Amino acid sequence: MPTVLITGANRGLGLEFARQYAADGWSVIATGRQSSSELGELGVTFETLDMGDFSAIVGLGQRISELDLLIANAGTRGPETVTGADDAREWSEAFTVNAIAPFLLAQSVLPAIRQSGGKLIAISSTRGSLSDNSPGGSVAYRSSKSALNSAWRRLAIENPDVICALFHPGWVKTGMGGPSAPIDPETSVRSLRRLIGALEPQHSGRFFNPQGKQLPW
Ligand SMILES: NC(=O)c1ccc[n+]([C@@H]2O[C@H](COP(=O)([O-])OP(=O)(O)OC[C@H]3O[C@@H](n4cnc5c(N)ncnc54)[C@H](OP(=O)(O)O)[C@@H]3O)[C@@H](O)[C@H]2O)c1
Repeated sequence: MPTVLITGANRGLGLEFARQYAADGWSVIATGRQSSSELGELGVTFETLDMGDFSAIVGLGQRISELDLLIANAGTRGPETVTGADDAREWSEAFTVNAIAPFLLAQSVLPAIRQSGGKLIAISSTRGSLSDNSPGGSVAYRSSKSALNSAWRRLAIENPDVICALFHPGWVKTGMGGPSAPIDPETSVRSLRRLIGALEPQHSGRFFNPQGKQLPW
C-alpha cells in the first residue's frame, strides 16, 4: 500500500486529497495545525504540524521512513497590500508557509521518497507566474508562490532521480477560493491525482494546470 503525506489536510483541497487517496487504499499521513471532524471521519493518520515550525517539519520528516508521495498543499494568502510593518510581518509569514516550509519538508522526506522512487508535488498557483502577473495585487501571495516555484525547480535540478512537479489546482471553491469559484474540490483533485499518477521523469521541474498544460514561470 503506497503512502502519501499531505499538508493542510484538515480542509479544502488537502482534505479532498486525503479523502480520495484514502478511498483508493493509500496509507495517508494528513497534517494540519489542528484536525477537523471531516478528516477525523476518514480514519487516516493525523500529525499536528504548523508550517511555521521549522523544527517540527524536520522532526516529522525524520520520523517518516516510508513515503511514496508528498503533496505540499498548505498555503495562505497573506495580506492583499503591504503598506506597513504589520503587513510586512504577515508577508513574511506567508513566505514561510508557502515557500520555505514546503521546501524544508521536501528536503526532510527526500531520503524516503528517493528510496521508494516517489514524487514530490507542490500546490502552487498561476498567481506565482512572473510572466502572467497582469491583474496585479496580492504581492505576498504572488511572490511567495513564485519563490515556491523557484525552490521546487531547484529540487528537481539537484535531484534528477526524483520527480518533482508543481500544480495550479484551478480556481476552486474552498476557504481560499471562495464560494464563487467555478470548480469544486472533488473535480480539481481528481484531475490533479490523475496527472500526478502519470508523471514521468521528463516532467520533473515543471509547472502544470489541472488540464496538464505546462504553465510559464
Ligand atoms: N482554492 C483555489 O482557488 C486555489 C487556487 C490556486 C492555488 N491554491 C492553492 O491550493 C492550496 C490549498 O488551498 P485551499 O484552496 O484548499 O485553501 P484553504 O481551504 O484556505 O486551505 C488552506 C490550508 O492550508 C493550511 N494552512 C495555512 N497556514 C498554515 C500553517 N501555518 N500551518 C499549517 N497549515 C496551514 C490551512 O490550515 P488551517 O485550517 O489551520 O488554517 C488549510 O488546511 C494552497 O497552497 C493554495 O495556495 C488554491
